[in-house]
Amino acid sequence: MFKRTLVTSALPYANGPVHIGHLAGVYVPADIYVRYLRLKGEEVLFVGGSDEHGVPVTIRARKEGITTQEVVDRYHELIKTSFEQFGISFDVYSRTTSKIHHQFASDYFRKLYDEGKFIEQTTEQFYDPETQEFLTDRNIRGECPRCHAQGAYGDQCEKCGATLSPDELINPYNAINGNPLTKKATTHWYLPLDQYQQWLEQWILQEHKEWRPNVYGQCKSWLDGGLKPRAVTRDLDWGIPVPVEGAEGKVLYVWFDAPIGYISNTKELCDAQPEKYGKWETWWKDPETRLIHFIGKDNIVFHCIVFPSMLKADGSYILPDNVPSNEFLNLEGDKISTSRNWAVWLNEYLVDFPGKQDVLRYVLTANAPETKDNDFTWADFQARNNNELVAIYGNFVNRALVLTQKYFGGKVPARGGLTDYDQQTIAEFQGVKAQVEELLNNFRFRDAQKEAMNLARIGNKYLADMEPWKLAKTDMARTATVLNLALQIAANLSIAFEPFLPFSSERLRGMLRLPACDWSTLGSIDHLLEGHELGEVSLLFEKIEDNAIQAQLDRLARIKQENEDAAKAEELKNWHPAEVKGATTIDEFDKTDIRVATVVECKPVKKSDRLLQFTLDDGMGGRTILSGIAQSYPDPSVLVGKQVLFIANFPPRKMMGIESQGMILSAVDADGKLVVTTVSAPVQNGAQVG
Ligand code: 2FM
Ligand code: ZN
Repeated sequence: MFKRTLVTSALPYANGPVHIGHLAGVYVPADIYVRYLRLKGEEVLFVGGSDEHGVPVTIRARKEGITTQEVVDRYHELIKTSFEQFGISFDVYSRTTSKIHHQFASDYFRKLYDEGKFIEQTTEQFYDPETQEFLTDRNIRGECPRCHAQGAYGDQCEKCGATLSPDELINPYNAINGNPLTKKATTHWYLPLDQYQQWLEQWILQEHKEWRPNVYGQCKSWLDGGLKPRAVTRDLDWGIPVPVEGAEGKVLYVWFDAPIGYISNTKELCDAQPEKYGKWETWWKDPETRLIHFIGKDNIVFHCIVFPSMLKADGSYILPDNVPSNEFLNLEGDKISTSRNWAVWLNEYLVDFPGKQDVLRYVLTANAPETKDNDFTWADFQARNNNELVAIYGNFVNRALVLTQKYFGGKVPARGGLTDYDQQTIAEFQGVKAQVEELLNNFRFRDAQKEAMNLARIGNKYLADMEPWKLAKTDMARTATVLNLALQIAANLSIAFEPFLPFSSERLRGMLRLPACDWSTLGSIDHLLEGHELGEVSLLFEKIEDNAIQAQLDRLARIKQENEDAAKAEELKNWHPAEVKGATTIDEFDKTDIRVATVVECKPVKKSDRLLQFTLDDGMGGRTILSGIAQSYPDPSVLVGKQVLFIANFPPRKMMGIESQGMILSAVDADGKLVVTTVSAPVQNGAQVG
C-alpha cells in the first residue's frame, strides 16, 4: 500500500506560451487528479516547472533576435502565470536553469559516470567549419531524398512527412546560415538502453499491463524493436556542462536533464520548507510513495523507458507507478502548432474570455484526448458552455437559490418527512461519489466529469418533477423539504466539481456560505443546516454569444491565410528562374507582332475545363482568342476591362469549334499558375509592343 502520491506533469519548453493542447493533454488532468487526492485528505505533492534547455529555446532566441536567457526568462514567467490563472495547483513550479537543478543534474550524471553506467562512443557528426559548431538534426536542412523537396529538416521532411536522419539529406546545409556542412568526429556518452531491455520488458510488459493501451502499446513497440544505446550528451553551448574533464563545449542532453528537474524541483521545495513538505528523498526514494507522470504522447518513450532506466541506473529511486499519457488535441481539424501560431494561447484566451477559466477547463476535459486524438472547435466550446454549464449546472443552482430567497428569505428551510421519491433521488446522487471515484482512480477524467454533471441533472429533474413554485401555493412545509434537498444537492455539486472547476466551486460555496469541505462528505444531505443563511446569489455561468465565437473563427481564418502566404513566400525563395534561351536577333523578334487589346468579354468555353474565350477590342475591329488558362482563373470576369498583350500574327486555329485568332501572353508563377500580362498605363488598343 502506498502512503503518499507524487504527481509530476511534463515540464513545458520555455520557448513560447502554453496553449489549449498543453492544458488538455497534461495540466488539467494532472490538476484534477491532485485536487481530488487533496480533497480526500491524502498526502500528495504536485511538481512542475519549465524545461529551459535544448534546441527549441535556442531556435526561438535566434528567431526573436534576443539571447536564450531572455527567451527562457520571458516564457517561464508567462507560462507560470498562465498556470496560476488556470488554477493548476502546483506545489512547486521551478525551472531547469536554476542553480539547484544544474548542480543536481550534474551530480546525477557524474555519479553514473563514476560508476561506469555510460558507454563512450566517437562518431562522425555534421559540422559547420565556419562557425565551428556541430549541428543538431533540426538545424540541418537539405533536399528530401524521397520527394526531393528543398529545405527538408534533418529529422523530417515537412512536405512528404518522411522521418529522416540528417545523413539521408541531399546537399545538407546549416539551417541558420546556409553554410555547407562537413563531418567531424566527436565523443559522447551513451546510456546503454539495450542493457535495460530485459528488465524493462518485465517491469512494463508483465507488471504494468494496467497502463493505458496507448502507453503500453508504444512501450511494447519500442521494446519489440530492440533498444539501442542513447546519447545523453550533446555538442551545444546551451545547457548543463558535462562534468567530465575534457568535455568542454558539451552539455547534458535536454532529455537527460529535464526529467531530473522533477527531482531537483522537489528538492528545492523540501529544502525551503522541510517542516511542511518533509525530505525530498521521502518523495523519491521511499517505496511507499507512488509516482505518477502526466505527459503527452510524444513524451512516452522518455518517461516509460529512458527516465526509468536512468533511475534504475542510479538504483536508489522509486519508479513510476503509472504514466497516464494523453493523445493530441487538434484545433478546428488541424494539428496545433506553436511555430504556425495554430493554437489558442492561454494568455490570449483570458483576454477574450476574462474569468472563464473553468469553461475552458470543462470543455477540455469533456473533450479530453484520452484514448485518441480529439478536436477542439469553437462551436463545441460554445455549445458545451451554453447547453451544459449554463443550462444544466448553472440553471439548477440558480433555481435552488433563487427559490429559497423567494420563499424562505434566503435561509435554509426545514426538512420534513421524506417521500419515496425523495429517498430515491438521494440514493441516486449518493451513487455519484463511488462512480466519480472509480473513474478518477483510473485516470478517466472525461467520464468522471460527466458523472459529476449527472448530479446537476438529478437536481434539475428533481426540481422539475417537484415543482416547488407550484407547491408553494398550497404546501409550504413540503416546499421547504424540496428546497432543502435541492440546496444539499447544490452543496454536493461544489464538492464533486472542485477537482474539475475549482473557481466555480469556490463561488458556489460563497453563495451557499459553505466552508471548505472534503470529499468524504460527498453525498451527504446535511451540508446545510436549517436556518443557515445563504450568501448573495449570482449566475454561476453565463451564455456565450455567437459574436464572441465568430471573432475566434475570424482570428483563425486570418492565421490560416498568413500561414498560406508564408508557405508561398518560402516556396518562392526556393524557386529558380529557367535558364535563358539561346541567342536570338532583333530581326527574328520583329517577326512576332505583339499588340495591346482591351478584354471586352472573357468566359469559359463550354465542355472545356482548360479554355477561356476572350473577346478583345484590338483597335482593328475586334477578335476572339482562346487561351488555356481556365484553371488559373476560376472567375474569368476579373479580366474584363484589363488591357492585355497578345500575338496578332499567329495563323487562326480552331478549337472546340471556335476560331482563335492569336495568343494571349501570360507569365507562369511558382505554382504553375498562369497570370495574364497587362500594361502599366493605359494605351490605345492595337498599339504595338516591342
Ligand atoms: O515535450 C516537451 O515539451 C518537453 N519539454 C517535456 C519534458 S518533460 C520532462 F522530462 F521534463
Ligand atoms: Zn519529402
